[in-house]
Amino acid sequence: MRIGILSSNPESWRMQQFIKAARKQHIRLCPIDPFETKLELRDGKFRVAHTELDLSTFASSIHGGNRRCFPYILHLLDHMEGMGIPLTAGAVAVWKTRNKFATLQAVAQAGLPVPDTFLTYSQDLALLEMNRMRMPVVIKLLESSSGKGVMMAENFVEAEGLTGTLKALDQLIFTQEFVNSPGVDYRAFVVGDEVVGAMKRKGRKGMWKANIAVGGRGYKVNLDTEKEEMALKTAEILETKIVGVDIIEDKRGPMILEANITPGFEGLVKYTGVNPAPKVIELAKSIAKK
Ligand SMILES: Nc1ncnc2c1ncn2[C@@H]1O[C@H](COP(=O)(O)OP(=O)(O)O)[C@@H](O)[C@H]1O
Ligand SMILES: [Mg+2]
Repeated sequence: MRIGILSSNPESWRMQQFIKAARKQHIRLCPIDPFETKLELRDGKFRVAHTELDLSTFASSIHGGNRRCFPYILHLLDHMEGMGIPLTAGAVAVWKTRNKFATLQAVAQAGLPVPDTFLTYSQDLALLEMNRMRMPVVIKLLESSSGKGVMMAENFVEAEGLTGTLKALDQLIFTQEFVNSPGVDYRAFVVGDEVVGAMKRKGRKGMWKANIAVGGRGYKVNLDTEKEEMALKTAEILETKIVGVDIIEDKRGPMILEANITPGFEGLVKYTGVNPAPKVIELAKSIAKK
């Protein structure tokens, strides 16, 4: 059986894990580089042409992720679906997980708890809101990962500086209440209808962000039922079968922070011993066209 995986970087550690797991399950996993594809609509028929691969032979495809070719990737995913290739995540899922505000809108609409969050182009409106909020406040780039686009304003002067910078860059201003759990959150790795691995993350000393990419560490945990159900529901709402869900908790209870559609898992393997790659391949096999 041939299964595709959308990725421009077959050499990455992550991809090597998938390729190894696929080989063990007698699957030929073929990396599809979106930059090597062309979408055809000829006589109303969908075809994805590729410089080397014949996608019509693929039984299903995994979303391996590529931030650079957005929004072409959305067209590619719709086109693959148009060809009848079952996907672990379609265009809607990619859009909703890529954009942190769209994620929170979707999960909040379905009744899951999220931190108070505001989005505006207006610096005046953003500052007016921040004036009412308890400091510090969190300001994020809408589309970012690994803790890189996440900032904190500890006082109004800093808030003015950061929002002014965003304004100068013509960016939307995403503001969020600071959840009182500095540097601590939970990551749930969902595959299909199961949380296959979970960890509590703690940021490095003095750091308020829990991301392993910026020096945090993980601790293996069994999520309580509430967090586990929140993670599974998030996957369902976002229409993706594979997702890494970040959950933060304060005295009010757990809240969804964001969802990652191509979650890295080096940290999960290192800190919990759980490698989700075989489960991902099993899932791709289970949705394959017969
Ligand atoms: N509103 C918040 N309150 C407290 N900590 C936060 C908040 N938002 C983010 N963080 C911290 O920053 C980290 C990165 O934020 P996140 O929204 O997950 O973006 P990224 O895509 O960069 O991982 C989180 O894991 C968490 O530790
Ligand atoms: Mg995160």
